[in-house]
Amino acid sequence: MKELAIALDGPGSAGKGTIARGVARTLGYQYVDTGAMYRAVALRALRAGISWDAHAELAELAASLVFEFPFDGDVLRVIVDGEDLTSAIRSDEIGMGASMVSKVPAVRQALLGLQRDLGARGGIVMDGRDIGTVVLPDAALKVYVDADLEVRSLRRYEELLRRGQPASLASVRTALAARDRQDMERSVAPLKAAADAITLDTTEMTVRQAIEAVVKLARARRGA
Ligand code: DC
Repeated sequence: MKELAIALDGPGSAGKGTIARGVARTLGYQYVDTGAMYRAVALRALRAGISWDAHAELAELAASLVFEFPFDGDVLRVIVDGEDLTSAIRSDEIGMGASMVSKVPAVRQALLGLQRDLGARGGIVMDGRDIGTVVLPDAALKVYVDADLEVRSLRRYEELLRRGQPASLASVRTALAARDRQDMERSVAPLKAAADAITLDTTEMTVRQAIEAVVKLARARRGA
């Protein structure tokens, strides 16, 4: 049986990561979170005192970083220059930084080859913003995961509360909308559904229903 590459794209907090992880577990695939790679570049820039809109310096930084993405069970760890950054990149500040550095073509270029190598193995669920359009244009299954801004904001707000990082719902909504706009309006590899992607609107779905929907599509494509 041929193992698929599955591309999941969509705006922030639409549920991509949770769905991707659940689908990967169900199918025995590995999950690759490409957003984490951009977050790692943003974090390293912050530490180096490089502004998130200093394109030339970011290009130089991204080209100099040595990335490793080992799997820890089915979870991808992000190691840069030997340091495990998997947890340190999970803040909203770094999320916005990732969105800014991801506009820089040389930063995207530095990560593209690594992403394609991971995808070429098959048996992979990869999520991001340009997986179906640019990274894996031949993926066997492409899903564009979407949900209303209000529902995405609430999900993000509840996640922050759970993590002990309280914020107001209004500020979460404003930040999410700004990041989506930035990701959709950039000139290189903007966030959009691939022409052959299936849109999954998770506004009124439970996580379980969304995972089942993608697994069903994957099984149909795989012929199992
Ligand atoms: O999925 P995430 O929130 O971790 O992604 C952080 C940012 O990284 C996102 O706002 C835009 C950028 N990104 C990208 O440009 N392309 C990807 N394939 C994944 C993420």
